[in-house]
Amino acid sequence: MEAYLDNAATTKVGEETAQAVKEYMVGEYGNPSSLHTRGQKAAKALKQARESIASSLNADVQEIIFTGGGSESDNLAIKGVVGDIEGKHAITSSIEHPAVTQPLQRLERRGLKLTILGVDGEGFIDLDELSESISEDTVLVSIMHANNEIGTIQDIEAIGGICRENEVLFHTDAIQSYTKTELDVKKQNLDLVSISSHKIHGPKGVGALYASKEAQPHMVKQIDGGSHEMNLRAGTENVPGIVGFAHAASKTKKEDIKRMLRLREKLIDGLLQIPDSYLNGPRGVGRLCNNVNVGFDHIEGESMLLLLDERGVYVSTGSACSTKSLKPSPVLEAIGLPPEKSHGSIRLTLSRNTSTEEVDYAITQISEVVGYLRRLSPLTSK
Ligand SMILES: Cc1ncc(COP(=O)(O)O)c(C=O)c1O
Repeated sequence: MEAYLDNAATTKVGEETAQAVKEYMVGEYGNPSSLHTRGQKAAKALKQARESIASSLNADVQEIIFTGGGSESDNLAIKGVVGDIEGKHAITSSIEHPAVTQPLQRLERRGLKLTILGVDGEGFIDLDELSESISEDTVLVSIMHANNEIGTIQDIEAIGGICRENEVLFHTDAIQSYTKTELDVKKQNLDLVSISSHKIHGPKGVGALYASKEAQPHMVKQIDGGSHEMNLRAGTENVPGIVGFAHAASKTKKEDIKRMLRLREKLIDGLLQIPDSYLNGPRGVGRLCNNVNVGFDHIEGESMLLLLDERGVYVSTGSACSTKSLKPSPVLEAIGLPPEKSHGSIRLTLSRNTSTEEVDYAITQISEVVGYLRRLSPLTSK
């Protein structure tokens, strides 16, 4: 038996989505900028995909910029808006993905004034602190929607409201939340939203940035070349990938969220039965439907991961992008977890494909592995 519980890292592409991708690789393989029929068929597919992604966000078609993935969308939003730095100020949080923190830190080294808001023990920012941090030099607030490690869902509608009042652009990295919780750019006052295909059962290396009509004139193109993608991202569009992305997005159902919620609760309850275990991040509505992050005292997460891997249970100890570093997770550090607790934490993330059997299997295997490691540990006799 296997249990793939690393869906925040990436998801399986659905059969029908894969077929749709193939059709635009080997069938309608034209360049959408070509004027002949073959090119125009690709252009039509691109247009339909753009309409479909736009409607999923309640955005207008001209507000969707296809990119090479979530990281590129984040970079385009941040570097695009900050542009030439002179005197500018930006605000972010201490639990952002590296695709947000790194571009901001790079710009900071070149003179951007950067405020990093702390979070509480469950990963939420303080809205009053945000309001107080905005100054007349502030050009951008970048706060993620749902956190990739602990699943905390920020109140982006309120954050967007504060940014609107202060006439500051608001970017949210919605790469984990897209299709899993409400995302409505108009209702939620959003100016820039990053989304990515491979987190929603679409192909890898394709994503989109929603950039409102109001935000676009303030943006500087990051990849120069042709006038593709509202003249904000040059390069022949990845038509098969984009078709697959839109196809995957169109296949998401409300029932999948309900199922994931039910299985998430079952998994949390099962894992918290293990002695000296604790949940990282909030419980209930403030948590993304597919995220579980649990810690076990006196256990090394990496050892747990390897032993679980031998038993076919695939989990992770932090975001995929930071697995090669031995430093404690900056997200767990930011919520106040001491390093030893942070090292003993694992993330398990579900998808619409996750079954009850997988969840049951994972609980049994994790409790055995925790028991085994504790028997070996000099720190505990459990
Ligand atoms: C919150 C968040 N932002 C950005 C990214 C990067 O997305 P991509 O892998 O599509 O570049 C990820 C992927 O793990 C993520 O979870």
